[in-house]
Amino acid sequence: MGNVHVITHPLVQHKLTLMRKKDASTSSFRRLLNELSMLMAYEVTRDMPTQDIEIETPLEKMTGQVIDGKKLVLASILRAGTGILDGMLTVVPGARVGHIGLYRDPTTLEAVEYYFKMPKDMDARDVIVVDPMLATGNSAAAAVERVKKLNPKSIKFLCLLAAPEGVATLQAAHPDVPIYTAAIDRQLNDHGYILPGLGDAGDRIFGTQ
Ligand code: URA
Repeated sequence: MGNVHVITHPLVQHKLTLMRKKDASTSSFRRLLNELSMLMAYEVTRDMPTQDIEIETPLEKMTGQVIDGKKLVLASILRAGTGILDGMLTVVPGARVGHIGLYRDPTTLEAVEYYFKMPKDMDARDVIVVDPMLATGNSAAAAVERVKKLNPKSIKFLCLLAAPEGVATLQAAHPDVPIYTAAIDRQLNDHGYILPGLGDAGDRIFGTQ
């Protein structure tokens, strides 16, 4: 699959496997999601631009490289996307955060927007749209569509788990948007859940089941 980056690092795979277990507690699920989000942030920001700055070490002057974290926008698809923010903000604390409220119509599985808030000056920023699960791909495609209207410099999509159906839908709608995921699972079930998956990510993050 073109433009899909599966992050196969052993630490990522290890933590994902622990998260999938049905008996993982809410607190360990959250902790693992935090850790995974930090690790995935490392991969998804690999091509972030850096600037040279002059600094002084205790021994001498040198040129170092820094990023401009505030040029990055983490656009969270509510509500499960929120679970990815803490970990990513730990490693890019200056990043701005946007929220996209979409719910999945239970009958059609189509995405319906109820909230949208992004930082200003989006045309000067790179956006990473985040949602733990890329299932049907309808929410992801709708979220990217909405963000594109603000003309950001670039858009990436980051999830923990993807279904082949979701990857196909997002890529068909937005072939220019790279997808970063820790795994591509087998398929969706009749209710739009990923198999084998990890269940309902929002319920597991927030303990609402
Ligand atoms: N959303 C979830 O939280 N889990 C799935 O398996 C699919 C969509």
